[in-house]
Amino acid sequence: MDFSNLLIKWYLKNKRDLPWRNTTDSYCIWLSEIILQQTRVAQGLPYYLRFIETFPTVFDLARASENDVLVLWQGLGYYSRARNMHKTAQYVANELNGVFPKTYSELKKLKGVGDYTAAAIASFCHEEEVPVVDGNVYRVLSRYFGVKEDISNTATKKVFVEIAKELIPKGKSHLFNQAIMEFGALQCVPKKADCMNCVFNNSCFAYANNCIESLPIKTKKAKVKNRFFNYLVVFDEFENVLVNKRTEKDIWKNLYEFPLIEIELADDYEKLVQSIQEKFSFGYKISNLKPFHHHQIVHKLSHQNLHIKFWKASISGNFENGLSIKNLSKLPFPVVIFNFIEKELLKIKKK
Ligand code: ADE
Repeated sequence: MDFSNLLIKWYLKNKRDLPWRNTTDSYCIWLSEIILQQTRVAQGLPYYLRFIETFPTVFDLARASENDVLVLWQGLGYYSRARNMHKTAQYVANELNGVFPKTYSELKKLKGVGDYTAAAIASFCHEEEVPVVDGNVYRVLSRYFGVKEDISNTATKKVFVEIAKELIPKGKSHLFNQAIMEFGALQCVPKKADCMNCVFNNSCFAYANNCIESLPIKTKKAKVKNRFFNYLVVFDEFENVLVNKRTEKDIWKNLYEFPLIEIELADDYEKLVQSIQEKFSFGYKISNLKPFHHHQIVHKLSHQNLHIKFWKASISGNFENGLSIKNLSKLPFPVVIFNFIEKELLKIKKK
């Protein structure tokens, strides 16, 4: 049996029963693919179920506030996906009468829909013969066919797209694309793949040549930047605190946070305290400044390691725009701040 048919046979026997696999509804498929970008199925599945339950149609999602969408997305990361998803829902609901485009090239015009997502929707919903190509697919194809192009180069994608395109059996793009994704996720995994029990172990190039772990070839590693965040949780006499919406083009756009002082590693403690006093120079004198913990929380994003410290302080008087701790839960926060609120601030309140 050839590669594609054997792959599909493997898939039909081994596939997971996932809710977006029992539908060809464009809204469900689009929603699942946006959630699954850069996310594992185990992590994305509960979010998918929550979104479908809360917003059963594209019109429901379009009508929601961005804050509500971001609160539901909390913890999934890459929040631009959620903002673009919401904008696209509004576009489809308001400009296209709720009907998603049907072709790969039309789908790609939607915000947040790239090559992979457009190919997934077009093939799963309409059997268009376009291949999905992502990290899983690079791995499967590079190992099986012995493709040694460097996947750090953007031009390499074309090579894999051409190989995958040729492999799609007529009228079976849906099955083939699902199968290759699933095979990459379950069988042909990055480390310690179980090649002894693989249906391809008598035809796979990498297995025959003992180079499973070195394929695909990737020479450049993403650079990781360290950032040092200090959050000020300042209580007024009503026990209210201040939060701000992040509006800059940076991580966590449109999420909320406590007043932030970002410092360089080299900055010293005295300078930080001085910055805090300055940050609150708008009419308040802050006192009792001290850290919640002595350690920093290290929160890892794909290209940044955030070293986060929360500080506690108080003012005499009351903030004009202060919020009670209880009311914070209605706002979307980055998960690291949300967890801090749950573990530290709500705990204090309950004591
Ligand atoms: N990852 C991205 N899309 C997926 C899908 N439809 N099923 C399983 N994993 C995926």
